[in-house]
Amino acid sequence: MNEERIGHKSVLLDEVIKLINPKSNEIYFDSTFGDGGYAKKILDACDCKVIAIDRDPNVKERAKEYEKKYGERFIFFNARFSQINEVMEKAKEEKINGFVFDIGVSSMQLDNANRGFSFMKDGPLDMRMSSRGLTASSVVNSKSVNELADIIYHYGDERNSRKIAKNIDKFRKSKEINSTLELANIVKQSFPNKYFKKHPATKTFQALRMYVNSEIEELHQGVNLAVKHLKQYGKLCVVSFHSIEDRLVKNFMSIIEPNSNTKKIIKPSKKEVEINPRARSAKLRFTELNNSEYQFVSINDLGFEY
Ligand SMILES: C[S@@+](CC[C@H](N)C(=O)[O-])C[C@H]1O[C@@H](n2cnc3c(N)ncnc32)[C@H](O)[C@@H]1O
Repeated sequence: MNEERIGHKSVLLDEVIKLINPKSNEIYFDSTFGDGGYAKKILDACDCKVIAIDRDPNVKERAKEYEKKYGERFIFFNARFSQINEVMEKAKEEKINGFVFDIGVSSMQLDNANRGFSFMKDGPLDMRMSSRGLTASSVVNSKSVNELADIIYHYGDERNSRKIAKNIDKFRKSKEINSTLELANIVKQSFPNKYFKKHPATKTFQALRMYVNSEIEELHQGVNLAVKHLKQYGKLCVVSFHSIEDRLVKNFMSIIEPNSNTKKIIKPSKKEVEINPRARSAKLRFTELNNSEYQFVSINDLGFEY
């Protein structure tokens, strides 16, 4: 396996592994395989087994390399968080010692202009992690102005959402919006100020990505299903990259483990952010499952209305 290849730089890797604390003969679940950074570190730590999933079919090649290297200790499924029950059945396993989630997009997804996640590179307005289903361009071209404004507001925390939605509508009346830079420019024109700390399309792109991939619904299912399959004293580690996801994780952990130290967030060190600026907004939350009785937590109980 070529260690020098440029793929995705894992965020908070040492911190996650320290908390999960892998032990021989135990089973871990990597819910966001990506470039395999977490899975590798767990597998190399001891003689344990890892079940990994990722919704992106493009990671299959990397997973095959791992299957070759680690044999029966590693098994991969191209699946979503919401399919964890089916994955557990196929893997013929019942209980897991630790689940890790490193949510969001990988550098392979973000840096490939053809995937349509980046407002810095021109490409088709796609944004589908699974390469299936509704694209971002179909959302942008078909939703009503009100629906678009709500998506951009709810998932992007974007105060300018209504203006952006109206501008999108104005533009699409003469021409369909099919490229990332087209959309980025339309969003930019919706801001009166010329000077921005972040690119003005950051929040709109985030919102569309979350909508296209049902990210909140997936995360809600994912953490619930993880707890369902965790052993007593099993561990749950979630790395998230923005406040909406972090709020869901924080509320979830405080419901399933009221005594867990959910107030404690682990953030990347200055050094890590210097080396990998994409780590800057990462937040890691962790809990251990003391209570073995499984309880499903609804999305409303987590403070979300959908
Ligand atoms: C930040 S990357 C993970 C990187 C990985 N930890 C590493 O060290 O290489 C996130 C990955 O999660 C996947 N993903 C996001 N949402 C998912 C979901 N609902 N189900 C399965 N995979 C998902 C993405 O396709 C992406 O490959």
